[in-house]
Amino acid sequence: MSVIVFGSINMDLVARTARIPAPGETIVGQSFETVPGGKGANQAVAAARLGLPTEMVGRVGSDSFGERLRQGLMASHVGCAAVSTDTTHSGVALIAVDDASENSIIIVPGANGEVGKPDIERLECLLPQAQVLLLQLEVPLSAVIAAAKAAKQAGVTVILDPAPAPADLPAELYPLIDIITPNQVEAGQLVGFEVHDLATAEQAGAVLQQRGIGTVVVKLGKQGAVCMSQGEIFERPAFPVKAIDTVAAGDCFNGGLAAGLAAGMSLRAALRQAAAAAAISVTRAGAQPSLPTRAELDRFLAEVGA
Ligand code: RIB
Repeated sequence: MSVIVFGSINMDLVARTARIPAPGETIVGQSFETVPGGKGANQAVAAARLGLPTEMVGRVGSDSFGERLRQGLMASHVGCAAVSTDTTHSGVALIAVDDASENSIIIVPGANGEVGKPDIERLECLLPQAQVLLLQLEVPLSAVIAAAKAAKQAGVTVILDPAPAPADLPAELYPLIDIITPNQVEAGQLVGFEVHDLATAEQAGAVLQQRGIGTVVVKLGKQGAVCMSQGEIFERPAFPVKAIDTVAAGDCFNGGLAAGLAAGMSLRAALRQAAAAAAISVTRAGAQPSLPTRAELDRFLAEVGA
């Protein structure tokens, strides 16, 4: 049982600030840190910390960030044999987190933008040992489609986190996805109407299923998640916690879901694990530093009596 994550690896340049500046405005921040991140790498670390053998496929740059990002993945026991070093700079994310724990993010893809055919070949070598492939949209869409095709052919479950929110997805991608996990903004963007509660999430799920995806999980933050699968619709309530930083909460959810499914859990049990892991992550600062270990997750579930 193992998880493969095909996607982005970024260094997050994080400023904490009382509020996000308005266009044209300069404000003084409270603190600055460089923190390993990137949606793909965060999801890989989330799954690996929960104890699942996890492999990362992607690229870092030939700069000091690249080496630190690779070391960070390896320290969390993420396999990096398929992480190559590109001649360009590592992907970076400029992140502002305000006092209300809201964030704004600018991504400069760097090496992530070069992901392509050689990375698909590395992925194909890993697929025979995998149960689940996790994809996001911070590497070129053509590579995402090729990765999904390869996984489908190998009989591996494909989970797509459609983030950052796409303007649209090509029709050929939908039937290649087993599970899609948009947040409300991403779901709204995909279906063309606003998604803001359980009812609109269900409507969005129905549209995405009509396009060929078996299971839709719409993440609604504090409102939990709604799941549509095999004719069933059910809610997964969020665990109530005091959030200080929501960066990577969605990644943690996806990593927890993939780890659960690869370990043979039912969809409901894997979603519970995903929700609990995400709840822990929002109580801590930063992307990868916020992701819980198996022991921390078990302790949390014992404490909340779930
Ligand atoms: O989902 C959070 C991540 O988005 C950050 O770690 C940042 O790198 C961006 O990719």
